[in-house]
Amino acid sequence: MSDLEALPTPALLLDLDRAERNIERMAGRARELGVALRPHVKTHKCLELGRLQLDAGAAGITVSTLDEARAFAAAGFDDLTWAFPVILSRVDECRELAERVTLRLVVDSDVAVDALERTGAAFRVSLKVDCGYHRAGVDPGDPAAVRLVERIAASPTLRFDGLLSHSGHAYKCETTEEIRRVAAAECAVMSGLADRLRGAGIEVPTVSVGSTPACTLADEMPGVTEIRPGNYVFFDYMQVVYGTCSAADTALSVLGSVVSSRPDLGHSVVDAGALALSRDPGPSSAPRPTMGETFESYPAAELSPDLRLVSLSQEHGILSRPLPVGTRVRILPNHSCLTAACFDEYRVVRGDRLLGRWRIHRQRS
Ligand SMILES: Cc1ncc(COP(=O)(O)O)c(C=O)c1O
Repeated sequence: MSDLEALPTPALLLDLDRAERNIERMAGRARELGVALRPHVKTHKCLELGRLQLDAGAAGITVSTLDEARAFAAAGFDDLTWAFPVILSRVDECRELAERVTLRLVVDSDVAVDALERTGAAFRVSLKVDCGYHRAGVDPGDPAAVRLVERIAASPTLRFDGLLSHSGHAYKCETTEEIRRVAAAECAVMSGLADRLRGAGIEVPTVSVGSTPACTLADEMPGVTEIRPGNYVFFDYMQVVYGTCSAADTALSVLGSVVSSRPDLGHSVVDAGALALSRDPGPSSAPRPTMGETFESYPAAELSPDLRLVSLSQEHGILSRPLPVGTRVRILPNHSCLTAACFDEYRVVRGDRLLGRWRIHRQRS
């Protein structure tokens, strides 16, 4: 009997064979591209997975919160980039952490530089650059970008670490060709700015870029020294639609069971709602709207042609057809990073054997 048959649901399943393959493949890509790999651990928030990434050759890790940073630092991870614009009310926490590990910070404003300088600490600071995603970051064509770097480089306390961008707009592309163009444009913008700074006599140790689609599909990354993909450890339905991976590469799924069946309404209810899957609507280029796909056969990586989540409330998921109560379904989430952040632990599996539980460090303070 499969270990999964008796597992209480909803359960977050981590397919270790697939995750290990994904980790090895991205490490191989980084070697081919001639860049360092600094995976974003916000995807998994898991020490064991972080160690597998370091064992595969990662130069350090990227975090999205100081809570993640502290959890990984306490476990011996000693080179961390907090790839988020510095939160002014947490500068003292940064100083405390920077006394214990190499902590790399990111800024895009004079106000943040002021706050860091006031601490007197020798922070390593990168400039966040907007390469077309238009979320955070400075406009690379704005002379203010160079002025901000000049200020950091001339600071009596801070150390200029380099440039950092995130090609999140790769998630707006409709084709793999478009993703390749986004990746190439990100590299061109970043290496162009790095060259201008070098021309002005400023040393630029790091040029850090990336997103899973861009890092998976880019043909080359001239001028870049480091990539920071995160999602690639698990992939998800979104990445399948983008053509970044196949269903056979997806390493994270939610095991749910049908708790109510309504043939009169043409649906059934599963115990995986928004607090198990998140409410990420997935890509607009998906063949049809979905809140989560299901596997027809997990070992064959075959997705069901007609069974999917059509809506989610807090704990209820509505499946697209009636199924007998007790039926178990393996759900492929739209967005694995948000799904993992819904759970406290992974149930780690190889095939249908349960290996154990790995903690998800999703605490927030
Ligand atoms: C700043 C930053 N860097 C890297 C990443 C990793 O991107 P992905 O999850 O596409 O691999 C993210 C993801 O949101 C990010 O915000």
